[in-house]
Amino acid sequence: MAHGHSRPGRHGNPTDLAGMIKRQLDPKRAVWQKPVRVVDALGLRRGQVVAEIGSGPGYFTLRLARAVGPSGHVYAVDAEPTLLEVLRARLRRAGLHNVTPVLGLGDDPLLPAGACHLAVIVNAYHHFADGPALLRRLARSLVPRGRVVNIDWDTRETPVGPPLERRIPSEAFVRDARRAGLALMGERSLLPHQYFLVLGRRRASRAPS
Ligand SMILES: C[S@@+](CC[C@H](N)C(=O)[O-])C[C@H]1O[C@@H](n2cnc3c(N)ncnc32)[C@H](O)[C@@H]1O
Repeated sequence: MAHGHSRPGRHGNPTDLAGMIKRQLDPKRAVWQKPVRVVDALGLRRGQVVAEIGSGPGYFTLRLARAVGPSGHVYAVDAEPTLLEVLRARLRRAGLHNVTPVLGLGDDPLLPAGACHLAVIVNAYHHFADGPALLRRLARSLVPRGRVVNIDWDTRETPVGPPLERRIPSEAFVRDARRAGLALMGERSLLPHQYFLVLGRRRASRAPS
């Protein structure tokens, strides 16, 4: 079932944004998205700074904000202003004050350098017009031992998700990440239809003296 993905509009989204928002925020999504287990697996601590790239209306953003608590912070980056408006309204209703919505530039999440303990990308990398460029800039926003978690669709038929031709194999993502100075540190197999990759900054190789 790939409904809602057949007519890509801006930023890889369907032209029917309202329908997309409804599907993304549908409580039934929890059956396969397992948000509690995902956030648990991120191992966030109170006070940490997280960036979510391609946050959409914030299915994960609100959960991340609660995980880091009022002393922590979440940058919720998206390239589509309409989705950030919906996110803002949801944050207001939830009484959460530790999220900064950021209108990204497409190939630049516009994050401060060396600020984020973790950057999370869920079901979004296959939307990015220039993923490698975005990853290079994202890598600079991490603290030295910071991590990137990328969750995206397996490249086989699944009962939900975009058409197979739009999906990005995990190996291709890891190659892009490597060129951005990120190395694969681990993989979690907790989701039925998606891979879950953990990456960290590669140490710069020392020039021979
Ligand atoms: C399928 S949605 C996923 C939303 C959310 N992560 C979730 O799992 O519910 C992909 C999101 O990526 C956003 N997006 C596409 N290109 C982007 C870019 N270059 N920078 C930031 N966000 C982008 C889209 O606007 C959309 O909100």
